[in-house]
Amino acid sequence: HGTSKRNEHGQLSIGGVEAVELAKQFGTPLYVYDEQLLRDNCRAYIHAFQQSGMKFQVTYASKAFCTMAMCKLVEQEGLGLDVVSGGELHTAVQAGFPVERIHFHGNNKSLEEISYALDIGIGTFIVDNFYELQVLEHLAAEKEKSCHVMLRITPGVEAHTHEYITTGQEDSKFGFDLGSGAVRKAIDLALKKDHLQLIGLHMHIGSQIFETTGFQIAIERVADVYREVLNTHNLELPVVNLGGGLGIRYTSEDTPLKIEHFVSTLTDVIQQEFSARNLHYPEIWLEPGRSIVATAGTTLYTVGSRKEIPGVRTYLAVDGGMSDNLRPALYQAKYEATIANRMNQPHDEVVSIAGKCCESGDMLIWDIPLPKTEPGDILAVSCTGAYHYSMANNYNRIARPAVVFVKDGRGEIVVRRESAEDIVRCDRIPDSLRA
Ligand code: LLP
Repeated sequence: HGTSKRNEHGQLSIGGVEAVELAKQFGTPLYVYDEQLLRDNCRAYIHAFQQSGMKFQVTYASKAFCTMAMCKLVEQEGLGLDVVSGGELHTAVQAGFPVERIHFHGNNKSLEEISYALDIGIGTFIVDNFYELQVLEHLAAEKEKSCHVMLRITPGVEAHTHEYITTGQEDSKFGFDLGSGAVRKAIDLALKKDHLQLIGLHMHIGSQIFETTGFQIAIERVADVYREVLNTHNLELPVVNLGGGLGIRYTSEDTPLKIEHFVSTLTDVIQQEFSARNLHYPEIWLEPGRSIVATAGTTLYTVGSRKEIPGVRTYLAVDGGMSDNLRPALYQAKYEATIANRMNQPHDEVVSIAGKCCESGDMLIWDIPLPKTEPGDILAVSCTGAYHYSMANNYNRIARPAVVFVKDGRGEIVVRRESAEDIVRCDRIPDSLRA
């Protein structure tokens, strides 16, 4: 996976540093990112679009992994940034991310969030619903500002992925439905708002997707709407935003498309469908999250206790779990792992990796062949770069791990480990309880 590999001593090495060294230096559990791979993934998107000759913007979906250092890296690679909350927006602003390259998403942005985003002049609002359209126009008018908006539509396609992460089907909390006429109504309304400039439609059909059929169908439907807008308003909307969703390989069961292939298929379909309707090619915006960060991340854990149930199973417990990786419990997600300091030993014991949270569902991996382990060994779980740190939590009041970027044989902290002090930082004991 990525640039993590087995070196000549049978040790896992990431970005030129042995995992065992990283664990020693920064402690475990530890999120380790291969910085070069993060950059390579950004560049793969840019390069693929450049090949197509079309106008484009690649906007990294920061929900997958949002820290100030990541915002910096994304800025350096020339991508935009998609945020879905005041917290992600604040992170970007603190990192000095250019506000005009920020896109603001979300199905229930608060008045404070909208107001702040207008004040700092973010690039584009992705408007989700009629209420937001009204509030945004009102606040923009009050502030005498104008802003670019895209309308998020639900195109009515089902992407074949876990039901919790499909978003394009009609019965969804997100966006204006295409089927019911809500999209047309929203477009008419948006075009009447003096302070909003409608630049196009946005869709996001799901995540961890392995095929382009869903995109193809959605693009056909979107192109129909663009044609209709031209007919009725004499206006060609300049941008189409196709969202994110490209899947990655967590285990050998996954068969993802290459970034180049994914992008070239989308640009081909856009060209076909738009020219078939006598429309100019729009600028294409994409919002990849997982496919930029997932493979670049590895989580290191220290192996602790073991429980053997003869003839049934061996549980091997590590010093993290659903507090740093919610995905197995939430989506039955599967992972591959290795013992970083024993990669060249025979993998002749089948074990199940348990977390340390007080919950039976806190299992990271079921039945995986590993070398014989001892307490203190370092377990490395691969492809943990997307939706791990960002979904980490303090269940059982477990402190969240540190995050390290590794490059050219050097690891640097980008998020320090939480301390016991951090755990009680927001707690107060009211006087009434002190008596
Ligand atoms: N754009 C929008 C509007 C989105 O809602 C998302 C993800 C993305 C872009 C980025 O999608 P990606 O390229 O990462 O697939 N927590 C789940 C994934 C939730 C995805 C939410 N939306 C997981 O761990 O699998």
